[in-house]
Amino acid sequence: MASLFRGLSRLIPILCILLFPHIAISQTNITVGSFIVAGDDKAPGHWLSPSGDFAFGFSQVENSDSFLLTTWFDKIPEKTSVWLNREIDPVPRGSRLEVTSDRGLVINDHKGGFLWSTGTVVSRVTHGFFEDSGNFGLRDEYFETSWETFDNPTDTILPGQEIRKNGVILISRGSGSNVSGEGRFRLYLKNRTVQLKTVNLPGSYENEPYYSSNGSDASTNPATAVGFNRSTRYIYILRQNGVQSPLNLGIKVVSSQDYYLRATLEFDGVFIQYSYPKNVSAGKRKWSAIWLVPDNICVGNLTTKGSGVCGYNRICKLGVNKRPKCQCPRGFSLLNQSDEYTGCIPNFSQGCRVVDPSSSQDEFVLDEVANINWPTSDYERLQPFGEDDCKDSCLRDCMCAVAIFGGDMCWKKKLPLSNGRYEFNTSSKAFVKMRKYGSEPQSPGSPSSGSNDDNALIIAGSVLLGSSVFLNFMLMGAVGLGFFLIYQKKLSRIFMDESGLDVNIRCFKYRELEDATNGFKEELGRGSFGIVYRGDIEVGNGSNSRTEVAIKKLDRLFQESEREFKTEVLVIGQTHHKNLVRLLGYCNEGQNRLLVYEYLSNGTLACFLFGDEMKPSWEQRVQIAVDVGKGLLYLHEECSTQIIHCDIKPQNILLDENYGAKISDFGLAKLLLLSQTHTNTAIRGTRGYVAPEWFRNSPITVKVDVYSFGVLLLEILCCRRSVDIEIGGEDKMILADWAYDCYREKTIDALVENDEEALSDFKRLERFVMVAIWCIQEDPSLRPTMKKVMLMLEGIIQVSIPPCPFPFSTISTV
Ligand SMILES: *[C@@H]1O[C@H](CO)[C@@H](O)[C@H](O)[C@H]1NC(C)=O
Ligand SMILES: *[C@@H]1O[C@H](CO)[C@@H](O)[C@H](O)[C@H]1NC(C)=O
Ligand SMILES: *[C@@H]1O[C@H](CO)[C@@H](O)[C@H](O)[C@H]1NC(C)=O
Ligand SMILES: *[C@@H]1O[C@H](CO)[C@@H](O)[C@H](O)[C@H]1NC(C)=O
Ligand SMILES: *[C@@H]1O[C@H](CO)[C@@H](O)[C@H](O)[C@H]1NC(C)=O
Ligand SMILES: *[C@@H]1O[C@H](CO)[C@@H](O)[C@H](O)[C@H]1NC(C)=O
Ligand SMILES: *[C@@H]1O[C@H](CO)[C@@H](O)[C@H](O)[C@H]1NC(C)=O
Ligand SMILES: *[C@@H]1O[C@H](CO)[C@@H](O)[C@H](O)[C@H]1NC(C)=O
Ligand SMILES: *[C@@H]1O[C@H](CO)[C@@H](O)[C@H](O)[C@H]1NC(C)=O
Ligand SMILES: *[C@@H]1O[C@H](CO)[C@@H](O)[C@H](O)[C@H]1NC(C)=O
Repeated sequence: MASLFRGLSRLIPILCILLFPHIAISQTNITVGSFIVAGDDKAPGHWLSPSGDFAFGFSQVENSDSFLLTTWFDKIPEKTSVWLNREIDPVPRGSRLEVTSDRGLVINDHKGGFLWSTGTVVSRVTHGFFEDSGNFGLRDEYFETSWETFDNPTDTILPGQEIRKNGVILISRGSGSNVSGEGRFRLYLKNRTVQLKTVNLPGSYENEPYYSSNGSDASTNPATAVGFNRSTRYIYILRQNGVQSPLNLGIKVVSSQDYYLRATLEFDGVFIQYSYPKNVSAGKRKWSAIWLVPDNICVGNLTTKGSGVCGYNRICKLGVNKRPKCQCPRGFSLLNQSDEYTGCIPNFSQGCRVVDPSSSQDEFVLDEVANINWPTSDYERLQPFGEDDCKDSCLRDCMCAVAIFGGDMCWKKKLPLSNGRYEFNTSSKAFVKMRKYGSEPQSPGSPSSGSNDDNALIIAGSVLLGSSVFLNFMLMGAVGLGFFLIYQKKLSRIFMDESGLDVNIRCFKYRELEDATNGFKEELGRGSFGIVYRGDIEVGNGSNSRTEVAIKKLDRLFQESEREFKTEVLVIGQTHHKNLVRLLGYCNEGQNRLLVYEYLSNGTLACFLFGDEMKPSWEQRVQIAVDVGKGLLYLHEECSTQIIHCDIKPQNILLDENYGAKISDFGLAKLLLLSQTHTNTAIRGTRGYVAPEWFRNSPITVKVDVYSFGVLLLEILCCRRSVDIEIGGEDKMILADWAYDCYREKTIDALVENDEEALSDFKRLERFVMVAIWCIQEDPSLRPTMKKVMLMLEGIIQVSIPPCPFPFSTISTV
């Protein structure tokens, strides 16, 4: 039976070749006897695939004179290797790789000493081949493949690759100094599902999986391979009946014509599918995650015996990119300061000593931390118990390292703590035990020591280590603070207006800004008022005190005089709010009007919401909506001069390095409208976000921004554009109409499709949708103020049932 299956699965590729002979991938042929040399200018160091997309050869290890045999993407600036030879350590300069007919690939060092080979091959190798898919291999006299990189994967799978084996498929890269080493994380094909597990190194003992693919049809169809389908971009499990079950159904589709694609099991355990635009003029190019598992690696698997994702005594915090960030609890520090991936140890000795157990109570304190837990490290549970009893019990117990208290329960936990993570939405508190400052056992130099035995030495050692860490920390803190103060002073001095006005805006010469942007070279984006360039300006006298800025060159001629321009700029300059992009300076010379803003690293909300990357998480989206609301509220009600934005849309919301949202381009509408009356003005703002009164000669008030905010809020909730003609179904094309239909028909869940996070927070989702519908009322007087919007978003006041937002227009006929 089994052999029949095996025979069938062998037949399938042959059938494919017969049916689709034209899809054969083009390849570079490498004759027997060809060779490459590591780090030699006179000899080639790598081979290229026919398209030049991939290179296979020696690549220098950073900060060393040794080389690794790898495959990498050759046309992109970031070195991204997709395969590496893990069987040997990096080889020295001058090592030579040759294609031989009897031993396959062979590496010898510069003196001819043998280092590695692909092993004796049964039949003679006739040539090597390098395909455009990135696969490098050897072909024998019977036209069979005798060895190939696609069959010996490391941590990455590429489009077109299919790994036919049961067991370990991918192994993460080792962290730290061992560049060719293996990491702790593995991707397995097991029991008919794909699983991610940690192993306890050294050795290969596997802990329980922290991710398993659903095995819905697993019982009937065993799995035979894991692959990456080039045309659908799915990572799939190949069943024995030839069916491909995708792991990543519903990913954003990007074409492999336009993007490089790969899926990598990262060194931190997250399995990520990435894309990278091939087109050089595609703006800022980088690897973007388009899909990943597990969704929250910090949750781990509580049946696991090992340390968890981050290592012992650590806490795992999920970053915005869904990658884990590992931290030591307060009072703990890294086991190896120069290796980020070791566990943490307490900076004090735990102190179960024979001397006087009762005294330990006075030496320690408990540090209360909210929202953290080490769910698998309990040794005792006390119940019913009060909070004070719980703390007391841990303080008295020299075994106890952490106590968690919740409800009427007290869990005592011992070292080493494992599977640490942040836990939101819990009412429990963690108490971490640490030594009182100054109560460390005395140092060996002091008179009262000496009488102790070996233990004293160990304690002294740990005190010395701990205190030096502490000192370093203090020193770094002091230096940092000093630097910050000096920098602050310089900034404020530089940005003082020359007229002595109490503003922090600087007036720039055109020449200065030309220099700062390198002749307006790097374009960050194009807005409705002009082009934005990246630049850096000097903020002090030192050569290294430059700061990055975004410079907007206004492309429209302003009607008003220079004086009015300056007045307006000063009004903008006086706004200070964390959800507004900060104006740093301006230039007003002849025809040239420029504005200098702070630079925000994470681009626009439009890219974040509608780009090729993964959808932002629900929590992030909620935070962004609230941030934008706060910024608008400030502009409308808290500024000394009320500012109406007039052009709220995702392209005008920027994200800082923590994905905090800031509104940009505010105050500019006023600048442009100043000498015009709004009744006969051309319509400002952007289609789809524009309030109806712009078309009706009614007065323009702050309510136009409320309208645009409503549309933006819907876009943030649904991760789609307000008008999208490509979306299926006419009834869904206009987001505002569709959202109201869903609300009326009580099918709000359709708006967020399969977003589990949003669905599990349904009350809030519903509230936000209702607020959005209130904001997009055609009658401006029905729209709430931003203040009321914020109160409703935060759930402080009840949201009443919103009326139909479009009473004047006929509801779209379906
Ligand atoms: C490489 O060799 C294969 C036969 O193994 C042949 O079909 C192909 O045309 C050759 N490619 C080049 C570029 O010479
Ligand atoms: C600490 O980590 C560094 C870098 O990974 C390594 O070179 C060093 O040997 C480690 N030290 C110890 C004591 O393990
Ligand atoms: C790197 O790790 C591998 C196993 O993953 C091991 O065999 C090798 O000796 C290590 N090399 C160094 C230099 O530590
Ligand atoms: C998974 O497979 C192993 C051996 O291949 C077997 O011992 C184990 O019972 C299987 N587990 C499940 C849940 O099928
Ligand atoms: C955790 O491990 C158990 C036992 O192997 C397994 O049944 C479960 O699916 C695992 N959880 C996850 C999230 O993979
Ligand atoms: C990729 O998936 C499509 C749709 O499931 C299928 O028709 C095609 O044969 C697959 N391609 C390969 C190379 O397996
Ligand atoms: C997961 O389940 C869905 C439907 O329930 C199915 O279409 C898909 O093939 C399954 N994936 C795997 C890897 O089994
Ligand atoms: C690259 O992008 C630019 C601008 O987006 C476009 O004009 C050009 O045709 C693209 N080139 C290719 C090869 O797709
Ligand atoms: C240990 O950590 C605690 C809390 O961070 C700190 O107060 C104490 O000074 C540290 N002790 C040493 C010896 O560094
Ligand atoms: C948060 O806690 C509430 C009640 O304590 C519970 O109903 C809800 O399901 C929890 N949410 C999550 C995401 O755990």
